[in-house]
Amino acid sequence: MSNLNSFIQSLPKAELHLHIEGSLEPEQMFEMAQRNGVTLPYADVAEIRAAYDFNNLQEFLDLYYAGMSVLQTKQDFFDLTYAYLKRVHADNCRHVEIFFDPQGHTERGIAFADVIEGILDGLDQGEADFGISSHLILSFLRHLSEEDAFATLAEAEPYYDRILGVGLDSSEMGHPPSKFARVFAKSRELGLKLFAHAGEEGPPEYVYEALDILDIDRIDHGNRSLEDDVLVQRLVEEEMYLTVCPLSNLKLCVVDDLKNHPLKVMLDAGIKATVNSDDPSYFGGYLNDNYIRTADALNLSKDDIVTLVRNGFEGAYLSPERKELLLSELSKNISASN
Ligand code: ADE
Ligand code: ZN
Repeated sequence: MSNLNSFIQSLPKAELHLHIEGSLEPEQMFEMAQRNGVTLPYADVAEIRAAYDFNNLQEFLDLYYAGMSVLQTKQDFFDLTYAYLKRVHADNCRHVEIFFDPQGHTERGIAFADVIEGILDGLDQGEADFGISSHLILSFLRHLSEEDAFATLAEAEPYYDRILGVGLDSSEMGHPPSKFARVFAKSRELGLKLFAHAGEEGPPEYVYEALDILDIDRIDHGNRSLEDDVLVQRLVEEEMYLTVCPLSNLKLCVVDDLKNHPLKVMLDAGIKATVNSDDPSYFGGYLNDNYIRTADALNLSKDDIVTLVRNGFEGAYLSPERKELLLSELSKNISASN
């Protein structure tokens, strides 16, 4: 392993943009299909992997929602979550803030309680076994109506104290943040944090809407903000954190080559960018793979890596004690490597 790669591996890290359903590995998909009597349109794991070749976000989403069909029981959601935490423990990931898409499951007749309780139990077990702290974010599917989002928010009521906030994901084009103005305002009244995917495929105007109309606390992706200098300046001044997902951007053709990924431009502009995996089983890499391959493609320095890792902790919703602990561990790792 190169010096920089082992440095990346050694650092404690956070992951702030991860869809738990996007961590469903093909092997696990097959196993769950078998135990739940679900028929998959693939003969084997190799066929699934071969199908993961996308030209845009929608082509991915079609397979992502189809893949979810194997998730049926509370145990399935527990297993999915636990497997993800076990995997990122190997990447020295110490804190995660993960999305789940309840409407992708309740639409298929799965009980909301089974979904969220399975995931929460998985997060608790992961904290006990791997020392990974976590938060859960309920994401609304933006291709569905705002009314549907309101119904989902109401279903979550018994769990408000166990979710960090709400997010907005799925097909971006044609579904601007303003479509969800009221349900985000309601979520804010309930004391929830607000997140939204914006500027992944959508134009800078969608990022403005996420800021001005939804009043979000953190932007997911945000790549296309760079097309607007005034917006870039604003993101810098407001210290808005961006959860950037390089391998996702590559697989979904948001960038044509990792060498053209805007991560370094973001850092140099003073934007608070973080590195994340989005849907690692579909995009070919977990957290460290995202750091390592991007560092290689963009020639990132050790200082760039440290800034990205530190941004991950600063942009997270950690308790003051946990934040201090993780930042001091980070400092020790940096000193040890010098
Ligand atoms: N759902 C899961 N991954 C997503 C992404 N990258 N963009 C929008 N919705 C998603
Ligand atoms: Zn995402």
